[in-house]
Amino acid sequence: METALDRLAKSNKSLRTQIEQAKAAVLYPPRGMHCLILGETGVGKSVFANWIHEFAVDTGRLSPEAPFVVFNCADYANNPQLLISQLFGVKKGAYTGAENDRRGLVEKADGGILFLDEVHRLPAEGQEIFFTFMDKATFRRVGETEVERTAQVQIISATTENPESSLLKTFIRRIPMIIKLPSLAERGIEERYNIVIDFFREEAFRLGREIQISASAIHAFLAYHCPNNIGQLRTDIQLTCASIQRQAGHPASQRPQQWRDCQYSGRFCRRGELRNHQGRTDPDGGRGFACRGSRTSTANQIV
Ligand SMILES: Nc1ncnc2c1ncn2[C@@H]1O[C@H](COP(=O)(O)OP(=O)(O)O)[C@@H](O)[C@H]1O
Ligand SMILES: [Mg+2]
Repeated sequence: METALDRLAKSNKSLRTQIEQAKAAVLYPPRGMHCLILGETGVGKSVFANWIHEFAVDTGRLSPEAPFVVFNCADYANNPQLLISQLFGVKKGAYTGAENDRRGLVEKADGGILFLDEVHRLPAEGQEIFFTFMDKATFRRVGETEVERTAQVQIISATTENPESSLLKTFIRRIPMIIKLPSLAERGIEERYNIVIDFFREEAFRLGREIQISASAIHAFLAYHCPNNIGQLRTDIQLTCASIQRQAGHPASQRPQQWRDCQYSGRFCRRGELRNHQGRTDPDGGRGFACRGSRTSTANQIV
């Protein structure tokens, strides 16, 4: 059976080593290895974490309902107490405002994967709790002293920073698999070409019309400096297509509204197909946008 990572490998030749590392981390007995994904902004760390989860489901290492919970450590970085209670839960009355017992994300991720994005923003106190959790799979909700809870969670962290200088050594030592994703510049021209064409196809589909691209435009998209990597390339192509659309006089309201990007998976998705999202934390706010298939296959239908 072709897995999510096998599909990725076909169009991303420069990720061969990283894909092998990811597979090894998922299949490592009994419950997989914790991973740290490194790379500049926009190289695909978040989508890579998603592909790891899909691979774990495809291979049966995780059940199709296994949660994939995303937490961005930057969101609560200036309130460590709130951050830790978001992650590990809280006991009623632990602090002013803790009005109910609450489960944290670690509990919600039990039996699945917790993705800690921008992990360098996790305060030292939080990293310390995590390394105990990584050692023993046990934790306590904030304010709990007598109960020790357990959860089986594979942790995937990601950072744009040098881990040696931004994370505690004791924390890094507990992460056996470090996966470094290449910048766009390191990927080579052929891969960049495929990505550019793929993004134009996606836009053509989104706009519901054919888009013709001149050779000089393609050259420009292959050559310009893109410090924010694939993410920037995607946005720039979207902006270009939006401006073509405006000039051609097609109002945005004519676009097929039921289609949109899925922040969850980084793919092109359709409303109402919840197959891949059920039971998972969905940064889309649970509004029901879910993956339909690979971007390339959907986009190809109309271009
Ligand atoms: N290999 C890839 N092929 C196609 N699109 C990709 C690839 N990697 C990343 N992207 C797209 O680039 C954008 C940035 O990816 P993201 O995972 O958010 O990067 P990061 O988390 O490293 O900042 C997203 O829209 C994502 O879907
Ligand atoms: Mg990201």
